[in-house]
Amino acid sequence: MATDNPGFATLAVHAGAQPDPTTGARATPIYQTTSFVFNDADHAAALFGLQQFGNIYTRIMNPTQAVLEERVAALEGGTAALAVASGHSAQMLVFHTIMQPGDNFVAARKLYGGSINQFGHAFKNFGWQVRWADPADPGSFESQIDDRTKGIFIESLANPGGTFVDIAAIADVAHRHGLPLVVDNTMASPYLVRPLEHGADIVVHSLTKFLGGHGNSMGGIVVDGGTFDWSAFGKYPMLSEPRPEYAGVVLQQTFGNIAFAIACRVIGLRDLGPSISPFNAFMILTGIETLPLRMQRHCDNALAVAKWLKGQDKVAWVNYAGLDDDPNNALQKRYSPKGAGAVFTFGLKGGYEAGKAFVEGLQMFSHLANIGDTRSLVIHPASTTHRQLSEEQQVAAGAGPDVVRLSIGIEDAADIIADLEQSLAKI
Ligand SMILES: Cc1ncc(COP(=O)(O)O)c(C=O)c1O
Repeated sequence: MATDNPGFATLAVHAGAQPDPTTGARATPIYQTTSFVFNDADHAAALFGLQQFGNIYTRIMNPTQAVLEERVAALEGGTAALAVASGHSAQMLVFHTIMQPGDNFVAARKLYGGSINQFGHAFKNFGWQVRWADPADPGSFESQIDDRTKGIFIESLANPGGTFVDIAAIADVAHRHGLPLVVDNTMASPYLVRPLEHGADIVVHSLTKFLGGHGNSMGGIVVDGGTFDWSAFGKYPMLSEPRPEYAGVVLQQTFGNIAFAIACRVIGLRDLGPSISPFNAFMILTGIETLPLRMQRHCDNALAVAKWLKGQDKVAWVNYAGLDDDPNNALQKRYSPKGAGAVFTFGLKGGYEAGKAFVEGLQMFSHLANIGDTRSLVIHPASTTHRQLSEEQQVAAGAGPDVVRLSIGIEDAADIIADLEQSLAKI
């Protein structure tokens, strides 16, 4: 590139990609192949022994995935990345790299519901314990840490509540105890928030949401910040001790500031297997090219909708950090000055029945369980994703009977508001 310091929009279009050296194809080709031919036996041995980087088998690495990895690493300001099948598998590989049976980690209580399930139930089978803390109170993370704690996990912008978290304060807690801070940056995207600049060590994403951006492909990614010292306290043997399956290679010694991403790939991804298909990697790469344009539009539309909802008689409350009088507004201005994201909740005075009727009355909004699509999306958590919980549990999870969650799309704001208005009029 003509400049050493390209801007975010330039990186979103170009980082990691070049015209295909064989065909000249300008768009990144979909390398739809399972495996790659070795030059000779020595080349094969060097690849398997980690003495040389290169493609072996698409479960571990593929050229289309590699462009996606380089692009997201550049957008987040990380040293390397690993693209995988989904956001959930990215989380699994991060914890697989730092945890052993009997270890624990501390996570913010306000997270995407699927992550609460994954951490609280599925991870138990691996012997990993989660301890919950209040994302608004960094001290509550500190009080949960003991000598088997291996990390802290937060969302930069929490789903579904749309609240920002003081990343730097929680990073300080983590680093005082020699722990990495892992940040799920799905809801904000690197266009709004770059957690590594605020002290995070690892960033994960569900690429399924704003990065892919069109509601058509599943994916996830782990971004290595490259600054955490994995051998300082002897807590992370996968990185700091010789690996028997790689002839005694010590990953941190051999790979330095990309050791975490390498460990996730050559152990976690190789052995657990949640690889992303090259086709999905291509779709997500294409989505990322317009991330800055889409994300700004998402934020501008969401702010217009939140302001409009606030003025409606049938609406009890609106939780949108971008509103000047929102309790989360100061954190939003500090961490995400370009906007407050697209996903937020509001409450209807009519409670459960009003929530259900409102969702059913919408015409342009899609009623489904996703966020971060170009289209506007809606869900009434109490009658869908959270229906198995008691009312008390629903309220604690931010999904009480009156709560409606919106993911505002990039249509014309006037049309989004018109749809909300006609449905509100009917309840
Ligand atoms: C904030 C957040 N993190 C992680 C995930 C999980 O991602 P995936 O569905 O790609 O596994 C989701 C899914 O909705 C999410 O909203």
